[in-house]
Amino acid sequence: MIIKKAELEAVTARKDQYPEDNLKEIAFAGRSNVGKSSLLNLLTGRKKLAKVSGNPGKTRTINFYRINDTFRIVDLPGYGYAKVSKSVSESWGSMMETYFQNRQGLIKVVQLVDIRHAPSKQDVQMYDFLRHYGLDGLVAATKADKVSRNELQKCIRQIRTTLKLSADDKVIPVSSLNKTGHEELLSEMEILLED
Ligand code: GTP
Ligand code: MG
Repeated sequence: MIIKKAELEAVTARKDQYPEDNLKEIAFAGRSNVGKSSLLNLLTGRKKLAKVSGNPGKTRTINFYRINDTFRIVDLPGYGYAKVSKSVSESWGSMMETYFQNRQGLIKVVQLVDIRHAPSKQDVQMYDFLRHYGLDGLVAATKADKVSRNELQKCIRQIRTTLKLSADDKVIPVSSLNKTGHEELLSEMEILLED
């Protein structure tokens, strides 16, 4: 799949401001700073489409990107940023639930985890949450440039074990820095969109 057109369609925390539920959607979830926005830019070939920042917690809204006028990629707000207040983390939870429960077009959530570390307790919770909604099965292991080729397989095994992935579930290493893994992820997305 080639992404020819990508445009930000809506930035919102509120259901009544979501775009019309008329296209398939694939969302990206993961802790703050894991590289969701960077991966979105890599996939679309647009360096500045989604804001990337060294300050975790940059994306606090659900950001809907319309791709090729045929589907959407949805950048979900990151979790696990220690400095956010209790009220912010509570509103994060209800924001996710509202989106997952009400979105007909949502076909998959790509869970992003940092390749260097075993998935955190919150990553595990997030993945269980996706399983509950039947949106699990595709994991992107980000910042793959940070590990050597030798370490890569070991890191992937650790991710598989910690998230309790089944044999069919996919883990795709990606690096927004080295621009790798995006083609494989795009072809997985294409298969999901065709189903
Ligand atoms: P929130 O919006 O806070 O949830 O973060 P995010 O998940 O959107 O992360 P973002 O894409 O903003 O990236 C966070 C930081 O990680 C930035 O400093 C990026 O430059 C860096 N980063 C993202 N992807 C990669 C990668 O593949 N390799 C390396 N080395 N750094 C990366
Ligand atoms: Mg972001």
